[in-house]
Amino acid sequence: MTDSPQNTRILLASRPHGEPTSDNFTIESAPIPVPGEGEVLLRTIYLSLDPYMRGRMSAAKSYAAPVEVGDVMEGGTVAEVVESNDDSLRPGDIVLAYVGWQAYGVASAKHVRKLDPAQAPVSTALGVLGMTGFTAYAGLLEIGQPQPGETVVVAAAAGPVGSAVGQIARIKGARAVGIAGGPDKVAWLEELGFDVAIDHRSPTFADDLKAAVPDGIDVYFENVGGHVWDAVLPHLNTYARVPVCGLVAHYNDTELPPGPDRSSRLMTTILTKSLTVRGFIQTEFVKAHYAAFQSDAAGWLRDGTLRHREDVVEGLENAPEAFAGLLKGKSFGKLLVQVGPDPTR
Ligand SMILES: NC(=O)c1ccc[n+]([C@@H]2O[C@H](COP(=O)([O-])OP(=O)(O)OC[C@H]3O[C@@H](n4cnc5c(N)ncnc54)[C@H](OP(=O)(O)O)[C@@H]3O)[C@@H](O)[C@H]2O)c1
Repeated sequence: MTDSPQNTRILLASRPHGEPTSDNFTIESAPIPVPGEGEVLLRTIYLSLDPYMRGRMSAAKSYAAPVEVGDVMEGGTVAEVVESNDDSLRPGDIVLAYVGWQAYGVASAKHVRKLDPAQAPVSTALGVLGMTGFTAYAGLLEIGQPQPGETVVVAAAAGPVGSAVGQIARIKGARAVGIAGGPDKVAWLEELGFDVAIDHRSPTFADDLKAAVPDGIDVYFENVGGHVWDAVLPHLNTYARVPVCGLVAHYNDTELPPGPDRSSRLMTTILTKSLTVRGFIQTEFVKAHYAAFQSDAAGWLRDGTLRHREDVVEGLENAPEAFAGLLKGKSFGKLLVQVGPDPTR
């Protein structure tokens, strides 16, 4: 028996078939890892939960390698340096890292980014000033290219990506129409200044969308797929741009939806309306656009033109349930797990 502090880690126990459940994860205690030369020992403060993690749980071929069964689940983290074997970082520094679903982790000092708690709450490095904010910024501005007066429609609009897309569209002078699930999310989008917000769970959804886009849709920022995409497609204008960012309605699919096969109708619409439908992974834009994003987003956050919301779940052990809920619309804002105390608050 030892009473020295232990690490808590969540491992992938099995690959889900359909929705992930708690059975797909194992929570275990392990010794706290020891940093080597050029490495730091990190104590996790916040763990980011993101829809892409569903892909990492699957063995299907994708743009990134899967997490192996028995390995710690991957994920972005904000952490405190506990021990440093590198001159660039000292104990007490707060960093953005990628140590996954665990209370302590070791990382190369080269692979973490020091955060300045005086600039913004450190949790924003996982959301509005981090990966999700950048995804919105790069996908909308590089692929969507909204022009003043155009209509931009975004799905999963109350999430961290969608809420930033709609607000940046407004900053660029476009009309923003947000689609979200339920009256609370719709009310928040109205508060953020979206021109129209509609509920995709309402029985009148298709009619509400039609009424919201009298001049058609110039940019549709796709986050979900499913029935939302079906409702959007007929309203796309000639030369509309469709950044395909995510398809969360399908991440738990185990087979293709029942027929008929409508791909020929889709391709005909793409052809006859000269649509640009372009998938992307945000990392492809990092080199060219991350610096501009950081400066623009920090400015918009400071002056209040870009607002955000966090949904913080307490305790690493609650991560599996929170993650399953994320894929079904249970979270409201950027979903974070508070793994340990935040010394900056
Ligand atoms: N390409 C990239 O590099 C990249 C990077 C980051 C994120 N993404 C993608 O961007 C999308 C948004 O990510 P996020 O982090 O901002 O997630 P999020 O909005 O916090 O969570 C996903 C939301 O999708 C909505 N949803 C789930 N099932 C749905 C369905 N059947 N029909 C309609 N809406 C449904 C839910 O919102 P409601 O309650 O409003 O229905 C849920 O809250 C995801 O698809 C994600 O995979 C892509």
